[in-house]
Amino acid sequence: MSKIGCGSLTVVGTGMRAVAQLTLEARGAIEECDRLFHVVQDGLSRRFLDEARPGAESLADSYARGKSRHASYAEMVERVLAPVRAGERVCLALYGHPGVFATAGHEAVRRARAEGYPATMLPGVSAADCLYADLGVDPGSRGCQSFEATDFLVRHRRFDPTCHLLLWQVGALGVEDFRPGDGWNPAALGVLGRELAATYGEEHEGVIYETPAYPIGEARRERVPLGALAGAEVTLATTLYVPPLPERELDAARLAELRATIPGDA
Ligand SMILES: C[S@@+](CC[C@H](N)C(=O)[O-])C[C@H]1O[C@@H](n2cnc3c(N)ncnc32)[C@H](O)[C@@H]1O
Repeated sequence: MSKIGCGSLTVVGTGMRAVAQLTLEARGAIEECDRLFHVVQDGLSRRFLDEARPGAESLADSYARGKSRHASYAEMVERVLAPVRAGERVCLALYGHPGVFATAGHEAVRRARAEGYPATMLPGVSAADCLYADLGVDPGSRGCQSFEATDFLVRHRRFDPTCHLLLWQVGALGVEDFRPGDGWNPAALGVLGRELAATYGEEHEGVIYETPAYPIGEARRERVPLGALAGAEVTLATTLYVPPLPERELDAARLAELRATIPGDA
């Protein structure tokens, strides 16, 4: 049962390019809340949030070297839920889309609802949205698959190489905690390159993609043969895009079966 009149939670995304990709509804939630928590990547967003809601609190100090990121997310959720339980309208602002590769956003909403508090997630602009625009990729043209890179490798995820492929967190392969600095485990890139080259071939080129943190500036789009991925420079902000292999043959009999079911004009 919802505890109407008590605390509530709204989780919003601030987009990838500083304040420029903040939606109107996210801005409204930020300005109307009693307590604001945030995890953002750039100074401009931090300043905007601090000014929009004085007393805003960064959750970034829940990360620490040697502490698993899962433990950090659990701590963030607890920090956010404490004022909800005390009757406050709480907003949690996460960079990008707050529900895309963002454990804390989903978990906070799930836990708040389980405890009977109204909780909502508002969509934001994710790295994938920026990639579609910057690299001219339409996920509807071939289908598009998205995997966390470590998960892709260690679970041997099945994928279709004739679809677009997005691999996230290639700068953190195999790393469970949080580290200062940029590429956390560049030496493991060779493992990813080897796995991808086995399907696509060593000459097939992937794109090292990074959207700029600010509305000005160019996206990084560096083409690299998968066989040479081991030597590529990646950061925590890198998403690897692998373009599809040639299109599959379509099944003419299946298409005819579908067309035969289309209602005729009355
Ligand atoms: C923890 S996830 C956060 C994703 C974010 N919530 C979103 O909506 O895109 C971090 C991963 O997002 C991607 N990412 C973050 N910043 C990026 C950027 N500036 N350009 C491209 N991809 C980025 C990378 O794959 C990175 O490893």
